[in-house]
Amino acid sequence: MNLVLRGVRVIDPMAGVDRHPADVWLRDGVLAAIDDNIAPDAVAVIDLAPAPGHEPLLVCPGFVDLHAHLREPGGEPAETILSGAAAAAAGGFTQVLAMANTRPPVDDPGRVAAAAARAAAAPLRVLNAAAVTRGLQGTALVDVAGCAAAGAAAFTDDGRNSASTQVLSAALRDAAGCDRAVLVHPEDEVMVRIANPETDDVARGPLRPAACEVSAVDSALAALSLAGRGRLHLQHLSVAGAVRSLRAARDTGAAVTAEVTPHHLGMSAGGTGPASLRKVNPPLRDDADRAALQTALREGLIDAVATDHAPHVDADKGDDFDAAAPGMIGLETALAVCLTHGGMNGHWVPVLIDRLTAGPWRVLGSTSGLHPPRLRAGEPADLVIVDPAQDWVVEAAGLCSRSRNTPLLGSRLRGRVLVTMAGGRCVHLDRAAPSGLASLLETAHA
Ligand code: DOR
Repeated sequence: MNLVLRGVRVIDPMAGVDRHPADVWLRDGVLAAIDDNIAPDAVAVIDLAPAPGHEPLLVCPGFVDLHAHLREPGGEPAETILSGAAAAAAGGFTQVLAMANTRPPVDDPGRVAAAAARAAAAPLRVLNAAAVTRGLQGTALVDVAGCAAAGAAAFTDDGRNSASTQVLSAALRDAAGCDRAVLVHPEDEVMVRIANPETDDVARGPLRPAACEVSAVDSALAALSLAGRGRLHLQHLSVAGAVRSLRAARDTGAAVTAEVTPHHLGMSAGGTGPASLRKVNPPLRDDADRAALQTALREGLIDAVATDHAPHVDADKGDDFDAAAPGMIGLETALAVCLTHGGMNGHWVPVLIDRLTAGPWRVLGSTSGLHPPRLRAGEPADLVIVDPAQDWVVEAAGLCSRSRNTPLLGSRLRGRVLVTMAGGRCVHLDRAAPSGLASLLETAHA
């Protein structure tokens, strides 16, 4: 494979590059050069320049997802590492952080090592988070140093938040010792239990007022302050009050970062689609919350877009809203939801690309095992080619995930990932990609 992509827009936030028109030369899976009018002898040139008045195709570093549930082990009917990796590749992600709430959870060094061994079979980089507490029960801290040594990229009880301020503070201190971030799912479980007296299953309780999130954010920030060191990352913020707490903490210089999901940016409570498919923790909120999240993401107060890809089998997403499992799949629609409904289109596109690449890198840090998401000549191509203007309809048959739990089925989105290359190999080639790009597939099994 040896070809030049002519007339694209190259956006590389870590390098501070936003350049159009530009040419990108790919040779045997390596990013050979980015320049104007590259014309080496005997190399195929694919003219991708847009028609007048149309948007150019984007070439960006592969996206990084800080938050995916790949369900293996224990939840294979819903997802496996391989099906989740295929979904990630279709969404433009080349690096994904898998959550620890598998069955059994990833809560000791041996389980971290086993997760790393399974992840090694994926065609893209799957990093693993370890739990903060044994069994995600909130009481006994995991062996933080041992889990980090076994390959844990970060620590999180995501899905649950039952650790006390004291336990979280100890986790932040231990994780600081191995330069890892602690990722917190900020929902106050005591308040959620009070709001849902009918159920013992705190994760499925349908009523989760905004105050549950604000209280949990404030507790996590208190734990960080008590720890006196460490890096706290707040997952899937959903309400304006939590953004206010984050802003106040940042103003004091606290080492706290945050993420938002495409669905909290782009969907509100009461929208269309089956209710159980819209059930997610934290819940979809109102338009004022969405606006606050969009503003915070644009200004960089929220550092990253993270999918919270949460596959579930159909039986767990039946008609009974109260009993349904929370969560929706999101890897394959993330970019398009942010562009179509999340307020990140037009001149916000470079900012969105930052929040999908450099932002997650800043959150996890270089000690996590993440590769820097960048476009650098001489390195294996780890990139995505996007058509920001292409319309498409979300169809079950077109999804790579094993699960179908998204309220977006049948809806039209704008922005399509055409090609994903991870570590020098083509891991996704969309059927809508220009035919000249087919030779990229030669790298797929190189
Ligand atoms: O809706 C959710 N589902 N939120 C989470 O934090 C966990 C996830 C899951 O594991 O299904």
